[in-house]
Order: sequence, then C-alpha cells, then structure tokens
Amino acid sequence: MVLAAGATAWMSSTGSMADYDAYAESLRTAPAVPPSMRDVIRYATLAANSHNTQPWRFRIGNRFIEIAPDVSRRTPAVDPDDHHLFVSLGCAAENLAIAATSLGWPGELQIAPDGNLIRYAFVNGPTIASPLYAAIPKRQSTRAEYDRRSVPAAHLALLKHTADTAGVHLAILTNRADIDRLKEQVVAANSIQMADMAFMRELKQWVRFNPRSAMTSGDGLFSATSGNPALPDAIGRFAFERFFNARSESDRCARQVDSSSGVAVFAGDREDKAHWIMVGRACQRFALTATSLGIKVAFINQPVEVARFRADLAGLVGIAGRRPDIVLRFGYGATLPLSLRRPVEAVLTR
Ligand SMILES: Cc1cc2nc3c(=O)[nH]c(=O)nc-3n(C[C@H](O)[C@H](O)[C@H](O)COP(=O)(O)O)c2cc1C
Repeated sequence: MVLAAGATAWMSSTGSMADYDAYAESLRTAPAVPPSMRDVIRYATLAANSHNTQPWRFRIGNRFIEIAPDVSRRTPAVDPDDHHLFVSLGCAAENLAIAATSLGWPGELQIAPDGNLIRYAFVNGPTIASPLYAAIPKRQSTRAEYDRRSVPAAHLALLKHTADTAGVHLAILTNRADIDRLKEQVVAANSIQMADMAFMRELKQWVRFNPRSAMTSGDGLFSATSGNPALPDAIGRFAFERFFNARSESDRCARQVDSSSGVAVFAGDREDKAHWIMVGRACQRFALTATSLGIKVAFINQPVEVARFRADLAGLVGIAGRRPDIVLRFGYGATLPLSLRRPVEAVLTR
C-alpha cells in the first residue's frame, strides 16, 4: 500500500514515458493534405541543434520563409562565439529546404553575407520529393553504444556524396588507429569540460530530468535521450551533481567511440557565421542520409568545443591550420526516445 502510494507520487512528479512518446510522435506526424507552411516549419524544427535550445525564429513572407537567430537561447559557456548556434540554424535550414521542396514549394536557400539571416526563397519549378524527406522525422542523435559493425564502402561513399557542400570539407575516419586518437581527444576534452563549473552549470540548466519537465518546456536534453533514468527534478539535480563526473563520463565516451563504425569531421573553409551555417547544412544532410540507410549518428564535439584541442583534431584529419567545426560518430544501434520541440507558434515571428 505504502509502496503503491510512493510509486503513484513518483509517477505524478515525473510524468509518464507513454505521454512523452505520444508527444514526441505528435511533433513528427505527416503533414496535412494539402500541407501548410506550418508543416514545413515544424519539419525544420526537427533538426539537430546544440543542447536542444532551438535557437531560431521563423518568419513567413511573400514567397519566402526566413530563419533568424534567437539570441535569447545562447549557451555562452559551451559556445562563447555562437558557433554551435549558427551550425544549428544551418541544420534547420537544410530540413526546411528539403521539406519545402518536397511539399510543393521548390526554392533556394540564401545566406546573408554576415550570416545573420537565412532566407528560403520560393522559385517556380516542379515539386521534387527529396529522398531525404522521409528521414526528417526519424533522425535522432543516438547517444548510445553501437554494435561495432562496419558501414559498407558504398554507403560511406553515399554519405560523403550527399553531405558534399560548397565551402565545407568533410573527412571520414574509419581506420581504428585514427579513431583511437580521436577518442583520446574526446576523453581529454570531456574531462576539461566537466571540471569547468560554468560549463556544468549551463548544462544542468538544459537537462530535463523527467518526461514532465521535458514536456513542459518542449526543449532541452531529456535524460532518457542519453540512456539515463527519469527522476523527479530535485533528485535528478542531486544525482547530476553527485554522480555525473569526469571518470564515469570519460569511460562512457570511450565505449561509445569504440563501438562506432566511424567518425565524420566537418570543417568550413572560413571561420564565420555563413560558413557555420553551411557546416550545419552538410551535417544535417549527412545525418539524414545515415538515417535513411539505417545508420545512427551522435555528436562528440568535445574536441571542437575546448579550443585547445582543435589543432590536434585538424592535424588528425589532414586540415592543419583550419578550425574543425563538428564531429559526428556513426554506426548501428537501437533507437532511443525521440527528443521534443516547442510548438511552431513559439518560434514564429509575425
Ligand atoms: C552544433 C551542434 C552541437 C552539438 N553538440 C553535441 C554534443 O557535443 N554532444 C551531444 O551529445 N549532442 C550534441 N548535439 C546534439 C543535440 O544535443 C541534439 O541535436 C538535440 O538535443 C536534439 O536532439 P535530436 O538530434 O535527437 O533531435 C549537437 C547538435 C548540434 C547541432
């Protein structure tokens, strides 16, 4: 009796996974017939984005849709120069272009020279369904161990081909010795981040410890999407401070990298917002192509986030002197709970 009452109280403070999953599915339903521009924007918001802050605002104009940064959603500790914020905008822009083209609004993406505005301008032309369109609601960042299987050469070639973007260099590592060197960089950079109070404080603000808080905000990093248990908020915050430490996380990162088939490293030709957007487009195309091939991806960006590791990583992938932007591991594994988004109304500017 007491146990049952305790379980009920626990459930009512955390919310249920069934409700969470239904919410996540509702964000990913197929567009209405005929589709609306809200459907296009909903699909754009399903893009990868740093800490799931969803740092974007959309505006529907006369034959265009614009995407602008929402600087109220910056994460200055992990991303002091807004690099990840603009990569996230590029991921959303790519989803938007794929969805709009496939749903009856062919067009082209235009990036303002200063990178502060992206416009998808409609053009006259046929509706061409992109082979990547169906992958948009299925893609996720799968922060789990994979099963070590290799990706066939033909699929690696397809990944490289579809992610090929002007202004962006892509290196794919599949050689174990290279991946081991990268793993050392990830683990070392991760330890530095975990000793950084500002980084940890900011991360904790974006963690959602249970379905209820994830559904209330519609943003942030829900613990179950990283394979962690759902806990009441107070216990979750306590566990985060007490048990989430450099040693356990380093072990986990190492196992995850070991279990992956390979790693993709993206680098823009220049260090500016416009190129970070292009990097986002390329990495979103990579992730969607992987999804369509049954391949999982997850970001392991520690060596680009801790600036002192960038030169080593650039050396490893043969682009010495340049800034590597994004690191994605890939392989085969089980799907984890899908992440949430805020409703379209919350990101629309009138
Ligand atoms: C620029 C950028 C940086 C990211 N960095 C990391 C990272 O270092 N570690 C990680 O686990 N996920 C990282 N992510 C993934 C996001 O946390 C993820 O996209 C977001 O939580 C939404 O989840 P979803 O990709 O499953 O839809 C990054 C995503 C982007 C676009």
